[in-house]
Amino acid sequence: MIRAVAAPRRLRGTITLPGDKSISHRAVLFNAVAAGNAVITNFLAGADCLATIACMQALGVSIERRATTVQVQGVGLRGLREPADVLDCGNSGTTLRLLAGMLAGQEGLFAVLTGDASLRSRPQKRIVAPLRMLGASLDGRDGGDRAPLAVRGATLHGGAYALPIASAQVKSALLLAALSGDGRLVLSGRTDGRDHTERMLAVMGVDLTVTNGIVQIDPPGRADALQPLSLRVPGDPSSAAFWWVAAAIHPDAEVTTTGVCLNATRTGALDALRAMGARIEVHDQRVEGNELVGDVTVRSSSLRGTTIGGELIPRLIDEIPVLALAAACASGETLIRDAQELRAKETDRIMTVVAGLKALGAAIEPTADGMGIVGGRGLRGAMLDSHGDHRLAMTWAIAGLVAAGETMLDGAGAVDVSYPEFWTALAQIAEG
Ligand code: S3P
Repeated sequence: MIRAVAAPRRLRGTITLPGDKSISHRAVLFNAVAAGNAVITNFLAGADCLATIACMQALGVSIERRATTVQVQGVGLRGLREPADVLDCGNSGTTLRLLAGMLAGQEGLFAVLTGDASLRSRPQKRIVAPLRMLGASLDGRDGGDRAPLAVRGATLHGGAYALPIASAQVKSALLLAALSGDGRLVLSGRTDGRDHTERMLAVMGVDLTVTNGIVQIDPPGRADALQPLSLRVPGDPSSAAFWWVAAAIHPDAEVTTTGVCLNATRTGALDALRAMGARIEVHDQRVEGNELVGDVTVRSSSLRGTTIGGELIPRLIDEIPVLALAAACASGETLIRDAQELRAKETDRIMTVVAGLKALGAAIEPTADGMGIVGGRGLRGAMLDSHGDHRLAMTWAIAGLVAAGETMLDGAGAVDVSYPEFWTALAQIAEG
């Protein structure tokens, strides 16, 4: 699908965000193995999270969805049934990696996890190697590095593992495997990825502690140990970031996003934008679903370049495409470093972001672990491609709000993966 975007005179309004993608996945996955029923509201009905629902249904869990409300009838930690066919995770790394961990300890159950061409090209050794250490039997193409992955449920044991990369998907896969294991699992190293799994499992009654970055989980040993958790999913900060950048780079803008998840492992984009001089106000902070949420207002700003790297990277990894756009509209230089993980996302986002911003006229060069941008040259509309990557599609749409002339976007439908109402929200705030 091709869409054309041109610069509106003003951006004004309030956007109610869709539910957070990471939390929506986890709410379905964890409640599916809880002992009882749960109701999830403000669930993200994007393709990624719908794939998670379909996989859990194929594993014998009764799940009903009406728009953004989902009812899950948990089957307990030992109640999943062997699926009759391969499990299609679509474009969703979270579905594939968390499910691989969850299924690894389901004794007697065989499953094959696969997905679209993008997902099948992404690295899986990061979960396969440590899961095998816990006793898991799983394999895949490329010596276990690429999906399809075949999992044969086995008896898992505890252990210790130092995470070499700050990946919440790897951390979560291991914690889910440990749930059905027979001994304590201790995770150290790069445990600084998003912590929704730890928070949610702890509230559901799992013996899980986090002390100085060391995550420790003791398997409950009982199939009915996980209490169901009904919750309202907070708004997705990774979706909100598109509106924050849009408002900051547009010359006449004031946009509010409501109910944003402000979990500290997710707010790196706000920190980076503040460092660039963005006019940001966070108000009405409250707690919803065991997460801090608030409303965020951003106004037209004079941005300046900055350095984005180190500890900040895991806290804004999904927002880097749109932050690179902000940097292209800022005065001075921006360096994004320590972000080699971008190469393992839905596309190689170092390559695809640099190519797209170059086409728009930006001065940008790739590096091994990020990119360097000299901002302030002004963008001009171009023909761009999402390459099937939802975050690229939305980044190019936001670029179209400030570029001269018209920006044409091929593959615009990719937004459905994480933000099906994106185009409606855009039309709602674009005036004139
Ligand atoms: C996610 C973790 C991150 C993030 C992805 C969602 C999650 O991936 O990029 O969009 O829900 O756990 P990694 O764990 O690979 O860093």
